[in-house]
Amino acid sequence: MGSAKFLSIFTSATKQERQANFDNYWEFTQQHGGELFEEDRDLAKKRARLQHFKDNPVKLRTPLANPELFYRNYVEMKDDPKSLDRMTLMLTGMYKFARHEWVGIKGAWDVVPNMANSHTVEDKISRVHLAEEFCHVRLFDEMLRTCGLDKVEWVPLGPIKEWIYEQFPKCPGFLMDTPAFVTELMGVTYYFYLHRLFDELLVDEPEVRNRLKELLDEITIDEIAHVGQRRNFIGPLGMKVSRWLVKPFYTMFFNDIPEVGQLFDVKQMIKYGESFDFNEVPDYMIQRSWIPSYCKA
Ligand SMILES: [Fe+2]
Ligand SMILES: [Fe+2]
Repeated sequence: MGSAKFLSIFTSATKQERQANFDNYWEFTQQHGGELFEEDRDLAKKRARLQHFKDNPVKLRTPLANPELFYRNYVEMKDDPKSLDRMTLMLTGMYKFARHEWVGIKGAWDVVPNMANSHTVEDKISRVHLAEEFCHVRLFDEMLRTCGLDKVEWVPLGPIKEWIYEQFPKCPGFLMDTPAFVTELMGVTYYFYLHRLFDELLVDEPEVRNRLKELLDEITIDEIAHVGQRRNFIGPLGMKVSRWLVKPFYTMFFNDIPEVGQLFDVKQMIKYGESFDFNEVPDYMIQRSWIPSYCKA
C-alpha cells in the first residue's frame, strides 16, 4: 500500500468546484465520444470503434455446447439458475443487465432536452451521456454475438416497469440525482466483477476472452467517467444519502437478476461500491476516462 492517488467518490466538494468540474467534463466528453449523431443516438468515435470490432470478428474455438439454454433463459429465467453452467449464467446475466440499462435510457431519451434545446452545460452533458449508454447496449450485443449468440432480441420490460422508467427522468434533480449516481456506481462494480469472470470462464478461449475484455473496456471507461460526472451533480447531504443508498439499491437491482447472486458475492460488491475511490482502476483506463478534481489526492 503506497500513497493513494485518489480519494473516495463520496468526498465532499463545494458548489464552485462542482461547476468547474462540469465545464471540465464537457470538454472531456466532446473529445472522448466525438460528434453526436442525435438521430441515431450514436457518437462518431464509438461508432467507429464498434465497426472496427465488427470488421475483425473473432469466434469461440469451441462453440457453446447448448445455446438453447441461453435462449430459453435470457429474457426471463425459466430454469433453476442453480442448474445452469457458469458460462450460460454469465451470458444471460449480461443480457439482463444491459436490458435494464436500455429500458432506462429509452425512457430518458424522449424526456430530456435534445442538443438544440440544451442551454446549460449540465443538459448538454446529459444528452451525450445518454447517447453513450445507447452505444453500450450495442457493445453488449456485440459481446453476445462474439459468443455465437446472433439471435438476441432486445425485449422491452412490461408496461408498468417501462412506465416507471419513463417517470424517473421527469423527477426533480434532488430526487433523481442520488439514485442516478448510485446506478452508475453499480454499473462500474458489475463491470469490474465481470472482467474478472472472463479470465475464469474463458481460459481456453484466449481470442474471445480478449475481445470481450476490449468490448467491455469501452463501456467501463465511459462508466468510470459517468460515476464522477453523476457524483458532480450532488451536494453534501445528497452524498450522505447516496452512500446510504448503495446497499438497498445493489440488493434490489441484483435480486432482479438471479444470475448475479449465482456468479458473484453481492455483499462484497456492496462493500466495493461503498469504498470506491478509483485507486483500483488500471492506468490504461484512467488515461481515457475522467475523474473529478476533488477526488484526486
Ligand atoms: Fe452504460
Ligand atoms: Fe453510465
